[in-house]
Amino acid sequence: MIHDYDVIVIGGGLTGLRAALCISEAGLSVSLLSKVHPLRSHSVAAQGGMNASLGNVKGENGIEDSWKIHAYDTVKGSDYLADQDAVELMCREASATVIELEHMGTVWSRLENGKIAQRPFGGSGFPRTCYAADHTGHSALNALYENVMSNEINIFAEFFVTSLIIDEGCCIGCTALEIMTGEVHGFHAKAVLLATGGFGRVFNKSTNALINTGDGLALALSAGAMLKDMEFVQFHPTTLYGTNILITEGARGEGGILLNIDGEQFMERYAPNTIDLAPRDVVARAIEQEITDGRGFEGGFIHLDLRHLGSDRIMERLPGIRQIAMDFAGIDPIEDPVPVQPGQHYSMGGIDTDINGQTNIPGLYAAGECACISVHGANRLGGNSLLETVVFGRIVADKIIKDIEIIISKNDEVVENAMITANKMIKNILQRKGNEHLFNLKNKLAYTMTNKFGIFRDKKNMEEGLFEIKKIQEQIENVSLQNKDRKLNQALIRFLELNGMILIAEVLAKGAIARKESRGSHKRIDYPERDDIDFLKHTVVSIKDKQMYVSYKPVHLGLFEPKERVY
Ligand code: FUM
Repeated sequence: MIHDYDVIVIGGGLTGLRAALCISEAGLSVSLLSKVHPLRSHSVAAQGGMNASLGNVKGENGIEDSWKIHAYDTVKGSDYLADQDAVELMCREASATVIELEHMGTVWSRLENGKIAQRPFGGSGFPRTCYAADHTGHSALNALYENVMSNEINIFAEFFVTSLIIDEGCCIGCTALEIMTGEVHGFHAKAVLLATGGFGRVFNKSTNALINTGDGLALALSAGAMLKDMEFVQFHPTTLYGTNILITEGARGEGGILLNIDGEQFMERYAPNTIDLAPRDVVARAIEQEITDGRGFEGGFIHLDLRHLGSDRIMERLPGIRQIAMDFAGIDPIEDPVPVQPGQHYSMGGIDTDINGQTNIPGLYAAGECACISVHGANRLGGNSLLETVVFGRIVADKIIKDIEIIISKNDEVVENAMITANKMIKNILQRKGNEHLFNLKNKLAYTMTNKFGIFRDKKNMEEGLFEIKKIQEQIENVSLQNKDRKLNQALIRFLELNGMILIAEVLAKGAIARKESRGSHKRIDYPERDDIDFLKHTVVSIKDKQMYVSYKPVHLGLFEPKERVY
């Protein structure tokens, strides 16, 4: 079956919903495709909040917050790799975006005076993070979804996109597998927006949902788009020991402290000014160092102590993480410290786009975590991700609305051919014979990435990691699926995901090996210093004739000159 729309949005999280809403309100026909029901998108799991310089809570020094200070914190946090024009745009739009979400129905926590509450987050000079207790993503996603519903936007839920359709160098749609029936559908459009989120599940210790397999990035790369800064992976300092479920930075924003086995608040040694609220790259490294040096608890964790906050505050501001700690670690944070360790959380890199979300392929756009508009550079500040999703969901939608007037895209035959190719590919996968096991390979990849491309990196380990990735790439050819049915075949979906994950892992590995410096989240013990002379530039990876190429492009500097980061 072929469907025809002006715009296809792939991904049902905050970015996709915000963009679809905007496009629909402009009178264009839009449909949203999602691997899961939109309310199951990973945005729903965002806990801590969204940054905006509303200035509802004064800083310690009594100074008013402003978009400029927010931009400075973001650029410094990024270790000067963020594009400053994009950062400026995001920070200028932040306050209006929080208010806009409020008008759409997002329930924010409140101050006594009724204004939207704000809490401190890592790397920020002010209490700037607006929040809904510790379930901010849930609150925003439900509000946007209700708006999308009332605009009667078509949603194709549980559709797995199998290819982007490129005709004469332009993106004119996609093919997608309807998971329930196993049928391949063709989607014809003037513009396609990728809003598919991150790829955290390429790692084995991750806060990410199991659905975060980077499908959009692999689709884009395979279609001729480029991936940017993929070596920059964020490890969240506090994930629950055992399951790596997120324990929000908001816990430290509310006053929680990190303690080693000696009961020492060790962050005083690593970041004397900001202590537990240093940026994530700094805190994650410090925890890892404490554990390596034998000052962690057996098994590899430290303590997040919230007891001094008291039960009222914990119940009001952090009810979700209390429940998580009780359900998954058997610990009530009101009574006992929470065992935490760093875990993969976010990808600063993604599909290379300009400030409006336009890729190098006409008709193809990207926004949100799958994209690298480059507002986070080498390290993202907590609370800037939810902000990015909604700000750039709207900005990229506005760009599409403008561009669409000049796009002429109609070629049913190309769509039909793409559907035939997708059907053949699925048939081939189901007919394969071989003795490799899909989930063994998936686990092998995840362990390799965590062990070889973790918080501390070096050439030898990364080269061993790349070798392992290439081996897995060969081994996947010998995977056969036991379930040969096309209908509701979850193993088939996992196989398609894994294909893309291996590609992403290779891009990440090549970018990381080539970047011979330490910057933000990319810490090389063999190149421990930041090198602005050789590496103040974005890594760009592309594929041509089945070969992967690493190249570089300049960072957009602006108001803030690169300086040493002191916290
Ligand atoms: O810690 C957190 O709540 C995560 C927030 C974020 O990644 O922005």
